[in-house]
Amino acid sequence: MSLKSLVSLLFLAGSSIGAAIEPRAEEPVYPKGVTWSADQPPPFEYAHQEVNLNVKPSGGNKSHPLLWGIMFEDINHSGDGGIHGQLLMNNGFQGINPGLTAWKGVNDAKIAQDKDTPLTTAITSTLKIKVPKDTDEELVGAANTGYNGMPVRKEKYNNYFWMKGSYKGPVTVRLVGSASQVVYASQEVQVDSSDDKFTYYETSFIPEASSDGNNEWQFLVDPKKTAGQTIHLGLPQLFPPTYKDRKNGLRKDVAEFIEELHPRFLRLPGGNNMEGNIPETRWKWNETIGPVENRPGRQGTWGYANTDALGLHEYFEWCEDMKMEPVYGVWVGATIGGPIVEGEELKPYIDDVLRELEYILGDKESTELGKLRAQNGHPEPFNLHYVEIGNEDWLNGCEQYPSRYKSAYDALHAKYPQLQYISSVSRFDPKCYPKVADDVLGDLHHYLSPNDMVAHFNEFDNWEGRIIVGEYASTTNNDGTFTRFSTMQGACAEAVYMIAMERNSDRVEMSCYAPFFEHLDMNQWQPNMIINDNGPNTLTGSISYYVQKLFSNHAGEETLPVDSNAHFGPLYWSAMKSGNKHLVKVANYGDKRVVTNIMIPGNPANATVDLIASDDIVWHGPLIFNSPLNVKVQTRTLPLEKKQSGEFVLDLPPWAVAAVYTD
Ligand code: AHR
Repeated sequence: MSLKSLVSLLFLAGSSIGAAIEPRAEEPVYPKGVTWSADQPPPFEYAHQEVNLNVKPSGGNKSHPLLWGIMFEDINHSGDGGIHGQLLMNNGFQGINPGLTAWKGVNDAKIAQDKDTPLTTAITSTLKIKVPKDTDEELVGAANTGYNGMPVRKEKYNNYFWMKGSYKGPVTVRLVGSASQVVYASQEVQVDSSDDKFTYYETSFIPEASSDGNNEWQFLVDPKKTAGQTIHLGLPQLFPPTYKDRKNGLRKDVAEFIEELHPRFLRLPGGNNMEGNIPETRWKWNETIGPVENRPGRQGTWGYANTDALGLHEYFEWCEDMKMEPVYGVWVGATIGGPIVEGEELKPYIDDVLRELEYILGDKESTELGKLRAQNGHPEPFNLHYVEIGNEDWLNGCEQYPSRYKSAYDALHAKYPQLQYISSVSRFDPKCYPKVADDVLGDLHHYLSPNDMVAHFNEFDNWEGRIIVGEYASTTNNDGTFTRFSTMQGACAEAVYMIAMERNSDRVEMSCYAPFFEHLDMNQWQPNMIINDNGPNTLTGSISYYVQKLFSNHAGEETLPVDSNAHFGPLYWSAMKSGNKHLVKVANYGDKRVVTNIMIPGNPANATVDLIASDDIVWHGPLIFNSPLNVKVQTRTLPLEKKQSGEFVLDLPPWAVAAVYTD
């Protein structure tokens, strides 16, 4: 069997991944009626030219060790309802007008948001449950339907809640199918609750697994013992296993899926969600720390309430647990289209950033806020080297940014000279660019169509100065229509751009795709890198996720020059060295197969390829995508054939991304 048919066969064999269900968005049909079998490889036309890549042993430039990272802000319920472990929605009635969102009465109990019975000064409402006087039901109470349901698996769930109301006896907490009424878990807790104060309880259970995500959590009492009474439920919380077993931690499954990306840094906490719509609704660090019952939450910029249970500590612990460098954004006067705070009026906010940094970095004994951090469970200062001043200040507030940046930089740098400060505006935007020092590290964001992204391939070749690309993605198709889930063509264009960054990573120090997560059907932005639903096996990597993972898991320390018989386009490449290993990345941004002959220094005996491609393209064209339960494209690992003359042969399908690596 020839190499071409071997690769085609493997290509075909690996193509049907995921269960067959109707895709959730329209897929283009192109071209119709093509059939093939293992003996008849997919009829992709060959490019007229084979591309020879002759990797040189030295002569490139150093690569920044933090090049591949992730960006996080709470958008698309990526925090609450996403990576944060807590599964109940609207558990603390936070944000504006929460009402009874996600709550319902069970068996004739009347429920209401009670603003007159606060749990704390931060959690100012609790759930009032009025037990009916005459009922034949065994149990009555309230149900929370989570973030469009909740996953129910055979694993340990921790339940936490406060209760007020004169009642001694059992309370039942359950996980129940909302439509099926199947009870997956039920646990009684003996309470001794009084009318004059809230009492805290916790319990756990291991449910039977549910076959779907249409599930709810129930809090129930015996109406015979409580007939006509009013009971208050305060800040209930339900956690499946958390990442690294942290209390108030991240969801284990989601966090581990992210960990596979091997991100070197985390840019946080936004994004627009850090800025707020007006100064008052900005992300306030000091309201996201300490016990969750003392965190008031806020109406996030993306139109829903943030509980802030995923707060400053949880972000920094996430960085610690995944060994990521935090790239921490601080507020310096710009809001989303709202008023800009500048000059003298900005000073109190800069003082607040100084307090924020003292909380993160201050000594546990000699600084007041370092002491508070220690009381909150982290005696040692958090790891922090990068602070970004603002977000996207080339938009609202551009003209005042140089002076706002300077005020912030002068104050922060005087106290923390060891930190690297990042300007949210790059050199690219001279009007808003702060020229305070020669080595300003700027931040560049790109949301582009695939062709536009590829057109930026040379962007960094003559770039002056240092840069991070703090947000980028291919967000529309080439005809301008929106991309629901990242397409093969879009992900390929991102790979071309990543090759551009990798080739210039002595200047491009960090980069991260954005946004990085969506809770399916609760999104404000599309496409997103990871998609999650509540049902089994719905945690889904978009094609962009696999591209990010491929680059991040095959990072190198220095680039190597490559001689070729071809110009860039439709094939793009970069070569790297990592210790004794060699790495070659290629992206085929075109609809023909390209045979690539790769000569690697030292004439190694073996090379392997991680390939992201799909023969579904024959049926549907390059706009195919992954969606929950319909994953078409993943990474496959294949050995490469070596020619007598020493080159490794990679028969690259159209619209494909690959990393070739030696042992
Ligand atoms: O990633 C989504 C948004 O895009 C970010 O919040 C903002 O920084 C950018 O405009």
